Amino acid sequence: SKNISSEGDKLMEELIQTLPQEKDWVGSTLYQYQGFWYPFFAPKAVIAFQNHFKAHETDIFLITMPKSGTTWLKALIFSIANRKQFSLTQSPLLTTNPHELVPFIDINIYLKNRTPDLENGKFPSPRIFATHTPYGTLPSSILKSNCRIVYLCRNPLDQFISDWHFFVNNFPRNGDFKPFSIEEGFERFCKGTHAFGPFWEHVLGYWKMSLEHPEKVLFLKYEDLKKDIASNLKKVADFLSYPFSEEEIRQGVVEEISKLCSFETLKTLEVNMTGVRPVGLKNSAFFRNGKVGDWVNFISPLMADRMKQLCEEKLGDSGLRF
Ligand code: A3P
Repeated sequence: SKNISSEGDKLMEELIQTLPQEKDWVGSTLYQYQGFWYPFFAPKAVIAFQNHFKAHETDIFLITMPKSGTTWLKALIFSIANRKQFSLTQSPLLTTNPHELVPFIDINIYLKNRTPDLENGKFPSPRIFATHTPYGTLPSSILKSNCRIVYLCRNPLDQFISDWHFFVNNFPRNGDFKPFSIEEGFERFCKGTHAFGPFWEHVLGYWKMSLEHPEKVLFLKYEDLKKDIASNLKKVADFLSYPFSEEEIRQGVVEEISKLCSFETLKTLEVNMTGVRPVGLKNSAFFRNGKVGDWVNFISPLMADRMKQLCEEKLGDSGLRF
């Protein structure tokens, strides 16, 4: 079976080579698959996920564009769903990076093994998985099952600037490639040629589903979580059927989870200051400054205007605004 699967992988690689290509910030290849752009390592993992994943009714999916607050959402939902197993003072989050506790189903799990065993004790119920994969590419099993999706997005200018810092500060350039300037990256963002872009199609896919099937998809914005974490935590807990009891609310559990998962707490934990992800990325790369509106320090008023217009054009009468 090893031969068959490596044969399958070879065919898959050949197929992937036929996809349209672009470059990311540091010159690595992006491939366009089903209308969206993926980092070079992702398509084979996404296709395996699409073809093989079997959802459980109790599964929880955290879905984001990169740099929209994925790390934060992982910490929050891990805490909500596991609060009966671990008291908050003993939380695994205190010693483990959120990406270790809530893996990306495709670009971690299916990337490592195209036919992983997800039914064993390593993934106790509720299984919590993350992904950046757009709505239209999710495995049909997720759409048919009663499992839940929590989608988190962020103002596109903040997301874009966070992405720029993340790449330029943390990834080696490919060969002698000169990393894109903010201006050039912005052009590409506007065209949609960036990892998991186009931005608008990604957010609109989940936005529309959240309107049509509010019991299936909960749509959140980073800025709203920043403004009022407590009521959003309650909303998430209700949505996932892990509601806070009156007793818990009296005891301040909501505030405790908010505090444990706050930018300040997570950023300054030993594990997140010094730890390194298996691929070599530093845990600290996921905690920059965690602010709303930091884009003003990097984006000209002209560019901001263009983004505003683009948003109006693309989001139209969907009811979604940034
Ligand atoms: P900035 O670069 O603007 O600081 P992701 O987790 O999707 O990779 O997104 C990373 C962004 O979320 C970074 O934004 C990071 O600082 C911010 N972030 C990480 N942890 C956070 C937390 N607990 N609360 C708020 N923002 C957080």
